Amino acid sequence: MSEHYIEFRGVYKAFEDLAVLEDVSFVVDRGETSVIMGRSGVGKSVTLKHILGFLKPDAGRVVVAGQDVTDWDEDQLQEILRR
Ligand SMILES: Nc1ncnc2c1ncn2[C@@H]1O[C@H](COP(=O)(O)OP(=O)(O)OP(=O)(O)O)[C@@H](O)[C@H]1O
Ligand SMILES: [Mg+2]
Repeated sequence: MSEHYIEFRGVYKAFEDLAVLEDVSFVVDRGETSVIMGRSGVGKSVTLKHILGFLKPDAGRVVVAGQDVTDWDEDQLQEILRR
């Protein structure tokens, strides 16, 4: 559980030798709107795919809807993705 609606806590993600997310941490609270900005290829879509659970981090934790979903499978994610 987290007090935040969405939270990345020290997230790392690499593809082969390419590190895309390196120790990424941020929070989004309920009712907040946040923007992810950056040049092409910097990892914006990879970040969003972690929130949706389509990608899993190599390290770190991902919180969605206040719950740590890092280790959740697709079936478990369906329930919160509806929100
Ligand atoms: N499934 C994957 N396998 C291997 N590499 C990937 C995969 N998904 C993304 N990448 C790589 O991760 C990096 C970040 O990609 P991402 O799609 O997140 O960029 P982006 O910030 O969304 O760019 P754009 O502004 O063009 O949409 C890129 O170098 C991309 O090639
Ligand atoms: Mg993109």
